Amino acid sequence: MAGRFPNQWLDELRQRADIVSVIGSYVQLKKNGHRYSGLCPFHNETAPSFSVDSQKQFYYCFGCKASGSVIQFIMDIEHLTFPEAVEYLANQLHLPLPEMQNDPAYEKRRSLKERIYLANKAAARLYHQYLWQAEGAEILQYLKKRGLSDGVIRRFGIGAAPGRPDVGKKLMDEGFTKEELLSAGLMMEREGRAFDMFRNRAMFPIIDAYGNVLGFGGRAMGDAMPKYLNTSDTPAFNKRYNVFAANLLRKARGLTRVILVEGYMDVVALSQYGVEGVAATLGTALTPEQARLLSRYAPEVHIAYDGDKAGQKAILKGLDILEEANVPAKVLDFPGGLDPDEFIRQEGLEAFQALKPISGVYYRMLREKEKHDMSTEEGRTAYAKACATFLQKVKEPVDLENYLKRLSLETGFDREVLLQQVGITPSRPVTTAPKRDSFRQKAREASGVDWTGRTLLAVLATGKLPKDSVSPEDFDDPTLRSLCQDLLAGESPAALMERQPDERGRAAIGDILSINTDMDDDGLMQMAKDCLKKLRRARLENELDKLQTSLPNLLPEDQPKAMQRALELTRLLSEQK
Ligand code: CTP
Ligand code: MN
Repeated sequence: MAGRFPNQWLDELRQRADIVSVIGSYVQLKKNGHRYSGLCPFHNETAPSFSVDSQKQFYYCFGCKASGSVIQFIMDIEHLTFPEAVEYLANQLHLPLPEMQNDPAYEKRRSLKERIYLANKAAARLYHQYLWQAEGAEILQYLKKRGLSDGVIRRFGIGAAPGRPDVGKKLMDEGFTKEELLSAGLMMEREGRAFDMFRNRAMFPIIDAYGNVLGFGGRAMGDAMPKYLNTSDTPAFNKRYNVFAANLLRKARGLTRVILVEGYMDVVALSQYGVEGVAATLGTALTPEQARLLSRYAPEVHIAYDGDKAGQKAILKGLDILEEANVPAKVLDFPGGLDPDEFIRQEGLEAFQALKPISGVYYRMLREKEKHDMSTEEGRTAYAKACATFLQKVKEPVDLENYLKRLSLETGFDREVLLQQVGITPSRPVTTAPKRDSFRQKAREASGVDWTGRTLLAVLATGKLPKDSVSPEDFDDPTLRSLCQDLLAGESPAALMERQPDERGRAAIGDILSINTDMDDDGLMQMAKDCLKKLRRARLENELDKLQTSLPNLLPEDQPKAMQRALELTRLLSEQK
């Protein structure tokens, strides 16, 4: 795959896209020597086993074995193919792409996606223009009636698809083909004829963090159905991986939380009143990918869905998704079943800002309580049991104490009894991962793996050893030997990982290279020497071992020579001590 991009160019990309800062924008990393550690974004964990090596420029998770170069990371976290991830990074770094070499399929896919972005941008411009013209008068009036200011309409680029639109035709005049407009979801085909997809709707462009217009949400006038028509998924747009207003999230600086709402109108209203850092899903339930996307912009997410029954259910689901993605989550609960749009318009900015976000646990307790008849012992018992399962997730003892106190007041059970209940509930999640070091140690001893050879390779991969200090012949294991060859030939560890055909290959290399080599140059040299000594010793011992078992079966005339070699080996071994 990598053949499309010249290796030298990829090397430059990897170097410029410093892996620590790239991963650092997705995962909170703590520095520890050359290594940084954090919670793995690829599996659910509470203790950090994910490490990023700034020296060797790769990441490795001791838990789930996810590993690879910075490009691999982007592929996995952004759900991109290799070339897409490369392009993504190159774009961010403003590194011009090398001429793509002879791959028409790739060119075509790439250019279709780009054409869709261009068509969408042109369409957004047209819709926005209509809004201020006679064709869009009714829609503008609707938006005004909903309280939108000119400023916020411009900020979001809201537009109008008139009842008898000619956006498709205008875009074709601009040079877009019918096929491109169909692929973009701007037109649809019926009985061989192409029509504009959106008619008589207020148009909300969905823009990603890089300013690409991915698609549109079209709000019907009045009670027309469906209330919202969204661009269906296209080669440039997937609802699972994007959120509404990502472009504004990226612009906002120093957010302490992202507020997640249900509707486009909610985002717009909050923005109009001066609330920054608000985003919405795209007409579907929150996905893990969106949870991670949001976590890039602030340390917590506050769910601010509608206060109705459906909203409450979605909040519980959203909390689960966020917590599973290790994103701290809270809930903004609106009184009287209002949605954020209605609330801020009725009560104002100050009232909105005065709302106290509720912790996920407390929110679950509130909802749980409604299910039980708290005037009966049965009801209180069932409630206490259910709450105990929520409380297992609480990490801070002081928080736990607060919840226990509350629960004790609500149910009449002693705090100690409740604490016991928290401890015994069968669904207690396994948080007792084996201690890494002892675990790794044991695994090493039991595995019979050549740890010395691996350690030597890890040292070699730092690039700090003189070239002639190690040679491929130092390794007996063919895999290690060929890795040694590649490293000596100047390949970076990250590039080596990328060359692996699959996850297992990468994990195998990650496993080797993640051996701690955090020391100064002298230390590294000493470590290499120790390893080489051990390897040579092992080789001598091996040879001696074989010789001794074969000795009785040798022809008499061969025996003296073998004896001599055995003596020599014994001498060499004793010298080594
Ligand atoms: N939605 C959708 N299709 C529908 C209804 C809703 O895709 N038929 C999505 C839209 O993304 C919408 C969100 O769900 O923004 C929330 O729905 P709702 O609360 O009904 O819409 P609002 O944005 O609040 O719009 P309005 O205030 O105009 O009702
Ligand atoms: Mn609404």
